[in-house]
Amino acid sequence: MARPTPADLDAIGAAWQPDPHASSTLGADAYTDPAWLDLELDAIFSRSWQWVCHVEQLREPGAYVTAQVAGHPVAITRAADGELNAFYNVCRHRAHQLLEGAGTTRRIVCPYHAWTYGLTGQLMGAPLTQDLIDFDVADICLHGVRVEELAGFVYVNLDAEAVPLIEQSGTLIEELARVAPDIERLTFAHRLTYEIASDWKNVVDNFLECYHCPVAHKDFCTLVEMDTYEVVTDGIWSRQYAEAGKTANSAYDVEDASVTMQTVWWLWPNTCLLRFPGRPNFMVLQILPDGPGRTRTDPDGPSRPSTSTSRSPNRPQPRSRRSATSTMSCRSRTSRSSRASSGAWPRRPSKPDASSSSECREARRTRPGDPSTPSTTSTASSSTRIVRRWSRAGVG
Ligand code: FES
Ligand SMILES: [Fe+2]
Repeated sequence: MARPTPADLDAIGAAWQPDPHASSTLGADAYTDPAWLDLELDAIFSRSWQWVCHVEQLREPGAYVTAQVAGHPVAITRAADGELNAFYNVCRHRAHQLLEGAGTTRRIVCPYHAWTYGLTGQLMGAPLTQDLIDFDVADICLHGVRVEELAGFVYVNLDAEAVPLIEQSGTLIEELARVAPDIERLTFAHRLTYEIASDWKNVVDNFLECYHCPVAHKDFCTLVEMDTYEVVTDGIWSRQYAEAGKTANSAYDVEDASVTMQTVWWLWPNTCLLRFPGRPNFMVLQILPDGPGRTRTDPDGPSRPSTSTSRSPNRPQPRSRRSATSTMSCRSRTSRSSRASSGAWPRRPSKPDASSSSECREARRTRPGDPSTPSTTSTASSSTRIVRRWSRAGVG
C-alpha cells in the first residue's frame, strides 16, 4: 500500500464511534500494513512526548542518555548549569553518531573527525578548520529536540511546535505526586525484555482493558478488590485504580504493605506507568513499535527495595536497543538532591551556564529541531536526511 490518503484514513476508522458501546476496532490493515506504521511513526511517534528514562540517569551534570525516538537517534544531556538538553545524536559535519549508550562526559567528541561539542550542543572545536572561509564554530549547534522532566521522568518530543507535556498532561503531575510521592527517590531495580508478535496498538488495547483479567489474571483478581476497580480518563491520560494489598491472596505476600492501591496510568500514546500493591515500587512500560505486527517492551518486574541488581545510572552501558521500561524501587539509593515535598516536581534552579555558550539553547527555542532544517554545513544536512531515511528503513 502506498502512503495512506485522508480517504484511506476515513475508511480504516469507519467502524469507530464516539459512543464506545457502538464502536469497533480499526480495519485489519491498520495492524499489519507497513504503510500504516510509517504514517504512525511520522504522525504519532514523531509528534508526541516519548518517555526516555527516570531522572536518576540524568541527575548529575555531565550525565547523558541516548535513545531511538521514532527511528531517530537522540541524545539527552545534563549540562553544567543543571539544565537538560536534547538533540539529534548526529554530528553536524558528516553525520556520524556522536554518543553511545549512557554515561557521563564533559564534552562530546565525534569519533570520526573529532569535532567537539559542549553538553548544550554548541560546537566548540573543529580540527584544521582555521583556514576555512566563513566558518565559525560559534555558528554551529547540534539540531535540537524538545525535552521535559515530568514527575521524575524525562521525555522528549521531535516536534518543535509541540504543546509542553506539563500542559498536555493537565493534572497528571498532581495525581502522581499524591499516589506515588516517592518517585523521585526510586532507583533502577530490574529489567526484562519482551518481543511481542502483535501491533503496538493491540498491546495498548490490552493494557487498557481489564475485560480479560478474570479469565487470564485470576491471581490479580484476588490481589485487588475488583468491586473498587475504576477507570478515569482525563485528556491525554487515563488511570485504572483498585484497592488492594490488604488481605491474603494468591498473587504475592502483601503483609506490611505500605502501598495499598493498584494504580496504573496510560499516557498518550504509548507510556504506561504502574504502581503495584506492596512495598514502594514503580514500573514504566513503554510500548514501542518494532516493525509491522511487532512490538517491543522491556518491562522491569516488580522490584524489591534492596535488590542486588541495582546499578549505577551513570555507568556507561551499551544500549544497542532502547531501554523502554524501568522499574524503580526506593530505599536502596537516596537521592542526592533534596527537593521540596510540596507535591510538585520543581525543575532545577537555573545557574549561570558554565559549560559553553547558551546560543544553542536559544536557537532550539526559536528554530525547528528537525535535522532537515538547512544546515550551516551542507554535507551535514544532506547526510542527516540520509541517516533519517536509513533509520526509518531499519538500516544501520
Ligand atoms: S567530525 Fe563528526 S563526522 Fe566529521
Ligand atoms: Fe493482561
